[in-house]
Amino acid sequence: MQDKRKFKILTYGCQMNTADSEMISGVLKKMGFVEIEDMNSADLLLVNTCAVRTRPEEKVYGRLSNFQHLKEKNPLLLIGICGCMAQKEKEKIIEKAPFVDLVFGPQSIGELPLLIEQAFKVVDRKKRQMEKLEGDKKLKSRFRGAGIYGNFENTGDDLPEQDVSRESNFKAFVTIMRGCNNFCSYCVVPHTRGREKSRPFEVILGEVEELIKSGYKEITLLGQNVNSYNGGAGRSFPELLAAIDKMPGRFYLRYTTSHPKDLSDELIDVMAKGVHIAPHIHLPFQSGSSKILKLMNRKYTREHYLSLIEKIRAKIPGVSLTTDVIAGFAQETREDFEETVSLLKLVRYDSAYLFYYSEREGTHALSIDGAVPVKERIARLEELIELQMNITFDINRNMAGELHEGIVEGEAPKNPDEYSVRTFDNHVVIVPRPEGLKKDLIGEFVNLKITEGYNFVLRGEITGS
Ligand code: SAH
Ligand code: SF4
Ligand code: F3S
Repeated sequence: MQDKRKFKILTYGCQMNTADSEMISGVLKKMGFVEIEDMNSADLLLVNTCAVRTRPEEKVYGRLSNFQHLKEKNPLLLIGICGCMAQKEKEKIIEKAPFVDLVFGPQSIGELPLLIEQAFKVVDRKKRQMEKLEGDKKLKSRFRGAGIYGNFENTGDDLPEQDVSRESNFKAFVTIMRGCNNFCSYCVVPHTRGREKSRPFEVILGEVEELIKSGYKEITLLGQNVNSYNGGAGRSFPELLAAIDKMPGRFYLRYTTSHPKDLSDELIDVMAKGVHIAPHIHLPFQSGSSKILKLMNRKYTREHYLSLIEKIRAKIPGVSLTTDVIAGFAQETREDFEETVSLLKLVRYDSAYLFYYSEREGTHALSIDGAVPVKERIARLEELIELQMNITFDINRNMAGELHEGIVEGEAPKNPDEYSVRTFDNHVVIVPRPEGLKKDLIGEFVNLKITEGYNFVLRGEITGS
């Protein structure tokens, strides 16, 4: 019997991409593939890419030479580039890297079985040619990739439901909607992931119910803007959260991302009343200046954003807040930037993802004049990093002594004698492995006490499980 074909997926980018990789993995396993760790012995290597800023794209182009080496060692290996950068770059990828076999975007995962079979046919043909050419030194240079593309058109079709093969057996991402209709002027995502499409309400409920029954302890609902979720017959995101929150069992319910333009009072109420819903909101503000927000097409003002934060804090005491910020967008003056600084100081986020503006091909922002020099963007970003580090340090220091509940996510990054725990309110705490305890606690709920807080990390100890 022929050995099963082996695949490996490398994933860059956001949680959406992680979820997509798990879906791709499900599709491939259904086709009879097995997943392996070591890409050196794979028959199929897929790279799921991100295009949100220049840096993630450069990373992938930088790694292409590694993949070329793999192909030279094994000309029968299939190499596929998928994800947002594949959708954005399209044919350019094969122009730059002719050894690549397959290029497809996030909207054509449904076509995958067909694409793979086409590509393997090409590989089989090559195999036969290679047998004939045995001993030919020019062999390697003769073999280009199969040159197979997915459909890059934005068809508006729903992605067919797929079996998802999840990496973790206690944390699950559940995609509730794909694509984005917001067209923030700087953002490539609507161009790579296409128009917004929600998965049906009942289908999501069924999937989450199954996950909880099979022991999953943390469910994260994913969408680029969960507030515009429409699960059919007007079923909204707050309704979805409330329905999942009613499910029996012990689990944490998280979601990302909420857009401030349409975060409703109803959502805040559902969160406030929730039993399983984590008291954490990731609420990107991008800029503290209403002028810049308008240029970014964010459709809210600084005042509206701050009033939302006030409402959230009044209704969900102790809520943890995180955000995304872009420094140095076009026409951002020093005064506009100061408004971003002041917003960070006013809200005091537990943590923040800070970026400097990166021009993206095809986005509206390219036509806005008044670019801030890159050097200045970086300098402003550094200012924000310094400020947020001090705020996070201050918040973390004050958490010492607090009692929390969380889930052990794994070994601590630097020390196998320690665990990394994510608390219900989304803080990561490093704790020593309890002495003498034989049982592995990864994936378990634990109670802990925070003992110390630093810039980047909280330390604590497990008090019970
Ligand atoms: N849908 C999410 C964000 C997805 S992209 C939302 O609307 O919140 C994640 C973050 O990347 C954005 O919040 C933004 O801060 C950042 N980002 C997106 N495009 C960018 C660009 N061109 N330059 C710099 N940062 C960008
Ligand atoms: Fe991009 Fe804006 Fe959509 Fe988020 S909401 S993915 S920032 S266009
Ligand atoms: Fe990147 Fe696409 Fe996510 S561009 S951030 S992988 S939606």
